[in-house]
Amino acid sequence: MEIQKIKWGIIGLGNIANQFAADLQLLKDAELTAVASRDSDKAKEFAQKYNCTKAYNSYDALFEDENVDIIYIATPHNSHAELSIKALENGKHVLCEKPIALSYTDALRMTEASKKYNKFFMEAFWTRFIPSVQDVLSKVIDGEIGDVNYIKADFAFIGNETEGGRLFDKKSGGGALFDIGVYPLFLSYIMLGIPKEIIAKSIFHKNDIDLQTSMILQYDNAQAILHASIVSESDMKAVIGGSKGRIELNAPWFMANGYSVFKEEKEIAFGFPNFGKGYSYEAIECNNCIRNNQIESKLWSHQNSLDLSRMVEGIKNQVGLEF
Ligand SMILES: NC(=O)c1ccc[n+]([C@@H]2O[C@H](COP(=O)([O-])OP(=O)(O)OC[C@H]3O[C@@H](n4cnc5c(N)ncnc54)[C@H](OP(=O)(O)O)[C@@H]3O)[C@@H](O)[C@H]2O)c1
Repeated sequence: MEIQKIKWGIIGLGNIANQFAADLQLLKDAELTAVASRDSDKAKEFAQKYNCTKAYNSYDALFEDENVDIIYIATPHNSHAELSIKALENGKHVLCEKPIALSYTDALRMTEASKKYNKFFMEAFWTRFIPSVQDVLSKVIDGEIGDVNYIKADFAFIGNETEGGRLFDKKSGGGALFDIGVYPLFLSYIMLGIPKEIIAKSIFHKNDIDLQTSMILQYDNAQAILHASIVSESDMKAVIGGSKGRIELNAPWFMANGYSVFKEEKEIAFGFPNFGKGYSYEAIECNNCIRNNQIESKLWSHQNSLDLSRMVEGIKNQVGLEF
């Protein structure tokens, strides 16, 4: 029997929208039904590239398209809250890019809108669904490396300060913490939960966005040493250390294709090649939740996004970052 496909729409046809659309094409139970850009030529070109029938030159037109089940919001951070809420109000399920929002209050408004309109909503934290990361989490929970007492994770690259680019743009919510700092924070959160205390320091650009932010997360019996930068590089391996050994996620750890367990003076490597680039897994989760009438994922729930958003907001206030 042929399964009814979940019909996807995408708004904001930039870098990540292209990568996501390519991975969506790999799924048998999904189709890209409509896309929307502020620029009609861009919308047409994108639709053609990814075999999509409808191309709109306004986001509102896509919100009103009755054929679309779920909208993937791939616009800059500062627009996530309003666009997600609008999509939910229009009866659409939503997958919204990370970071969920620029404030905890906005993140809460988004998850409340999901409940109010009874529509699925998830922050697109794709790393949560990467098979290596899932497997490492199971191993840690099963006690493979004993009690976790140390995490080291970073996300750092040399960004281009291009005209109109969102990464260095204060209005769009640019800077290291909100763009990539959320990843190491996410790893510490899924492994150890909410810390008792966070100590953070940033170095700022002349326009006041953070170029680099370093964080120490203090737990009762563990510490996480985390770093994010848009002006330098790092090896992008992540280490999870415990009382019986350690696990290293292969670089780049947030989309790792495998990991190694170091224990009793031996290294055992595990390989998990990703399907596509790795964005397909979050789309599969959305499709499954929608088919099961769930308004949130059990793996990356509303509360998970809210917890992370609160941690990020605390760091933002501590380092003196303002948008
Ligand atoms: N999960 C991941 O791995 C990953 C990777 C990269 C980025 N992201 C997230 O995805 C979001 C988009 O990032 P991106 O790298 O794809 O950005 P991008 O290349 O700049 O694309 C963003 C798109 O948003 C639309 N847009 C709407 N209002 C805009 C405005 N005021 N200024 C600029 N663009 C605007 C534009 O599409 P139209 O012109 O078509 O309307 C633009 O092409 C960010 O929140 C980022 O954190 C996630």
